[in-house]
Amino acid sequence: MAQRRYRVAIIGCGRMGQQYAEAYQAYPDTEIVALAEYNPERRRIVGERFGVRALYPDAAALLRDVVPDIAAIVTPAKYTKEAVIACAEAGVKGVSADKPLAAVLADADEMVEACAARNIVFSGGNLQRAMHEVQEAAARLHAGEYGPLRGACVHRYGLEISGGGCQHISILRLFTGAEVAQVMAWGGPPEALDAETDEGLAIHGHFRMTSGLECLVFGVPTPHRGVDVWTDQALVRWDWAPPEVYLGVDAQGCRRRLEVSYQPYAWSEFSYLTGSIRSLLAAVETGLQPWISGHDLRQALEVAIAARLSARQGSVPVSLPLADRSLSLYPAPYRWLGGDDTGCPQSLDEAAGRVVRP
Ligand SMILES: NC(=O)c1ccc[n+]([C@@H]2O[C@H](COP(=O)([O-])OP(=O)(O)OC[C@H]3O[C@@H](n4cnc5c(N)ncnc54)[C@H](O)[C@@H]3O)[C@@H](O)[C@H]2O)c1
Repeated sequence: MAQRRYRVAIIGCGRMGQQYAEAYQAYPDTEIVALAEYNPERRRIVGERFGVRALYPDAAALLRDVVPDIAAIVTPAKYTKEAVIACAEAGVKGVSADKPLAAVLADADEMVEACAARNIVFSGGNLQRAMHEVQEAAARLHAGEYGPLRGACVHRYGLEISGGGCQHISILRLFTGAEVAQVMAWGGPPEALDAETDEGLAIHGHFRMTSGLECLVFGVPTPHRGVDVWTDQALVRWDWAPPEVYLGVDAQGCRRRLEVSYQPYAWSEFSYLTGSIRSLLAAVETGLQPWISGHDLRQALEVAIAARLSARQGSVPVSLPLADRSLSLYPAPYRWLGGDDTGCPQSLDEAAGRVVRP
């Protein structure tokens, strides 16, 4: 019997969109049927590169002609909401957006709700939470393999707490199986704290999780850059790689690192985009949750907004969910507007796949 092939559209075909296209073109059960790209020269050249003839300037034009099964939305963040809502209304089965999901909390809510109301799978893109090793480490924690959780820690919650910090928050929530319930934060430098964007802002502080677990937050790199959780016996550390697990102590009293053998994974070709895409397809098939969702990205934005609010107001405790959904935190201009509008356009040679990405 012929294998079912999901019909995929990529919306926003710059640097990141081309990585999605490489993955979707390679998988045996997906085919790219249409591309939407605002820049006409890049549109043409990326269409030629991936052998796609159905080319459109944006999601609305594409959806008038083609309703794909899957839409990967990889535009600059300013244009994500319009594309997500248009895809949801058109009846696309699975939609992915990338980070950050939005700047205004209400916009993130609208996207999550538009997909949920229509039973559309809303996935969250290229995040390390979608690595199969991260998922497996979380499953072992949740199964109680290392005992009950006692504490958690976020390292380097800084430089861009919205644009990049969603990596940390998504994994913290996964490992702890809980939401951030309260934030108390200190932030700096002062000019970054006062700014509209998250550029250069380092947040230190404390999160209380809905499970009651306490989490320390360091805005700068300690010797580590990710998320730690621990039990009485074990420490599980995500540091931008498959999680390390330490269990018990050696003769010197130092934590002993386990040689974790993660289960082999059938799809290993495209770094952590792989788990994101494969779990989105699995979710469309089964109705289960994708490994990184739009909801996860919304929660990460909310924590970042709450952290900056607390820091701005003299480290007052801020409870989540935030009542004021008009609150916002903008990412760096590149993430918000894209390379073409911020002096960093991708060359046509690179878009054509003729030169290696710098
Ligand atoms: N998860 C990650 O690891 C990761 C890494 C890099 C970028 N990103 C995110 O991906 C997004 C895109 O980043 P990039 O590096 O590809 O930027 P880019 O500037 O290289 O590409 C964006 C592309 O979108 C196109 N575009 C703009 N508005 C559009 C619209 N309305 N419809 C269709 N196309 C449109 C632009 O012409 C451009 O080609 C950003 O939000 C960024 O934050 C995520």
